[in-house]
Amino acid sequence: MKILITGAAGYQAGFVIDRLQARHELTFFDRVEPRAPGRFIGGDITRFDDVKAACAGQDAVVHLVALVRDRFDKPQDLFADIMVKGTWNVAEACARQGVRKLVNISSIVAPGWPDDPDRLFRVGDPANFGGQDMFYCLAKHLGEEIGRAYHAGRGLAVINLRPGIIAGDGLNPDPKRPDDDPGANWFLYVHPEDVAQAVERAIESDAVTSGTFQVVAGHPQARYDWQATKAALGYEPQHNWEAI
Ligand SMILES: NC(=O)c1ccc[n+]([C@@H]2O[C@H](COP(=O)([O-])OP(=O)(O)OC[C@H]3O[C@@H](n4cnc5c(N)ncnc54)[C@H](O)[C@@H]3O)[C@@H](O)[C@H]2O)c1
Repeated sequence: MKILITGAAGYQAGFVIDRLQARHELTFFDRVEPRAPGRFIGGDITRFDDVKAACAGQDAVVHLVALVRDRFDKPQDLFADIMVKGTWNVAEACARQGVRKLVNISSIVAPGWPDDPDRLFRVGDPANFGGQDMFYCLAKHLGEEIGRAYHAGRGLAVINLRPGIIAGDGLNPDPKRPDDDPGANWFLYVHPEDVAQAVERAIESDAVTSGTFQVVAGHPQARYDWQATKAALGYEPQHNWEAI
């Protein structure tokens, strides 16, 4: 397939590129040129014409652009521009250019924070935006809604993937052993190679044309359910405790 990777110069994108490039024809889109060699189209996700041009001739898009680094002191309009308008631009460009599938990289925090943090959280369970990082959570939530609307309204296949904390991203602290830090949220983590595996399954699955799936390390104590992702997409996390 011909696949456009947005946010191609980012941390997680590098693992997605490694996973997909042997069997697919990739094009990279970012403000910054990625280190990985390949076809690169420079552009800004907030400019519709840039995104529309990049989507021409593509079969699928993996959308990774977000306001991730240094986001905590940023105003709401930057989240709205990069994450909400950016995702809307991608969905509309896909619809106009005849792209068949959009894999939207969302986040485990897209619904906010679980109402009951001691219960296994499944997609659709009660959650709220009362916790930290509200602008980011809300922007991810709205991005998913855009995906759902374009699936229902324009027939675009849209799969929202919600990674947990991506290990080794240089932003979040690395997981500690549960024995060393029993209160730590180590069960929220996911290895970037497992996220890349989920992206590949989502791209290559003909049966699944819509849905929202959590992508975390596979562990009996995982706080977020990943069995539904396994059942629908065949997700088989490889980097679990202690590997992660
Ligand atoms: N890091 C995590 O723990 C984590 C967890 C869950 C979900 N995610 C999601 O995974 C995705 C990738 O995250 P990451 O950690 O690799 O982030 P990253 O910051 O490394 O990558 C984001 C990329 O987007 C590009 N970008 C930003 N604004 C742009 C714009 N206006 N136009 C074009 N390109 C732009 C940046 O140049 C960068 O290359 C994001 O959607 C993020 O929200 C990350």
